[in-house]
Amino acid sequence: METIKLDLGKAFAKASGFIAPDVFSTYKAAAEEMNIALHEKTGRGSDFVGWVNLPNEIDDTYLSDVEATAKSINDKNIDVYVVVGIGGSYLGAKAVIDALSDNFAHLKAHKPAVVFAGQNISEDYLAELRDLLDEKEWAMCVISKSGTTTEPALAFRLLKQDIEAKYGKAEAVSRICAITDASKGALRTLASEEGYKTYVIPDDVGGRYSVLTPVGLVPIAVAGFDIRALVEGAKVMAKATAANVKFENNLACQYAAARHALYTAGKKIEILVNYQPKLHFMAEWWKQLYGESEGKDSKGIFPAAVDFSSDLHSMGQYIQEGERTLFETVISVAKPEREVKIPEDKANLDQLNFLAGKNVDFVNKMAELGTQIAHVDGDVPNIRIEIARLDAYNLGQLIYFFEKACGISGYLINVNPFDQPGVEAYKKNMFALLEKPGFETETQMLKGRIWKVPVVKL
Ligand code: PA5
Repeated sequence: METIKLDLGKAFAKASGFIAPDVFSTYKAAAEEMNIALHEKTGRGSDFVGWVNLPNEIDDTYLSDVEATAKSINDKNIDVYVVVGIGGSYLGAKAVIDALSDNFAHLKAHKPAVVFAGQNISEDYLAELRDLLDEKEWAMCVISKSGTTTEPALAFRLLKQDIEAKYGKAEAVSRICAITDASKGALRTLASEEGYKTYVIPDDVGGRYSVLTPVGLVPIAVAGFDIRALVEGAKVMAKATAANVKFENNLACQYAAARHALYTAGKKIEILVNYQPKLHFMAEWWKQLYGESEGKDSKGIFPAAVDFSSDLHSMGQYIQEGERTLFETVISVAKPEREVKIPEDKANLDQLNFLAGKNVDFVNKMAELGTQIAHVDGDVPNIRIEIARLDAYNLGQLIYFFEKACGISGYLINVNPFDQPGVEAYKKNMFALLEKPGFETETQMLKGRIWKVPVVKL
């Protein structure tokens, strides 16, 4: 079975700061060991490694149930499907749906349009979404593992009232699906009371590793994409990166070891590069996966992302000549889904006739190659991941590959890749400032601090 390709050849180079092959090889055994720890549940946070075997546990009955839910929603002839969630309960579905959708789906009357809510607290966003929904046929799902996250809870409170006002209580219930914990949290209680169709997020799968649970599968199926191919791709990659697959053939171990070697050599920032705008949100998902998993205990590579060639005209300058603490990981799609040939032009004022008859993708690929050479010349190590096509099967592979490498990578820097204690700090302050009951002491302390911020006189 063909898998995605990983090229580390340009991460090993003579220029200073790059990984010497012998340094890289010192991490081989450690990467294999960390992979085994994930499978044997002997590493940190092992209560949350349910995603490791998840692709093999998804059976036909389960997929058929998700597909039946998607069909019953689409049978209502909806224009818009609203997915309410944030973080891991948002980014995976958004990444896959965007990657598989027409770039202009929202202007081509594709039904249903999947839109998101509860991923921000913007009053304008919610007001404009409600204006839109007022004129459309719609349904929604609300996703929250904890069932208590403020942003989606706030959005759902509003949208629940709107959908009930528009369709009446009974019909509204048939248009709402809740995806949450099996037994805990306010959303589970509400869903049971209201009688919503529900799906369970397994206890041992954290938010950012949950795209192959109903968190991703339900919205992706409603959007009309092939969840079987997505899961199949993940299964293939699970097999290719299993505990018994040696480093030489194990792409997840290799990527994790290469990142670790670069990090150890002072490359503190990894930039995920794409040359297909549809992959923008795949990079957002990847940023969350790696940032939340590794950025703790004052450690971790800072995950950043750029869209090329657009950002070659902005961030390209920094990458070429700025501080030399970065490396790039490029996702390259071998074959586009569509074909556009460059036409001959009689006047040739733009002097592009030398490209006439060539595919636009040929120019994109030469931009990619030229950039790789320039950035490597500029001391930016380059890791390249090639996927054959931008389809559900290859995305399934890519998702599992990144998840597996992230678990290994987190263990290599000796952090727990499955918790996110740092996310609580802003929540505590926000609740204190909002004067939430139970936060009285924090409210007093914060107010005292705010009023006392010294004014700096120049
Ligand atoms: O990865 C994570 O665990 C987080 O990003 C969560 O997904 C995010 O905070 C949303 O949490 P919840 O699904 O509990 O609303």
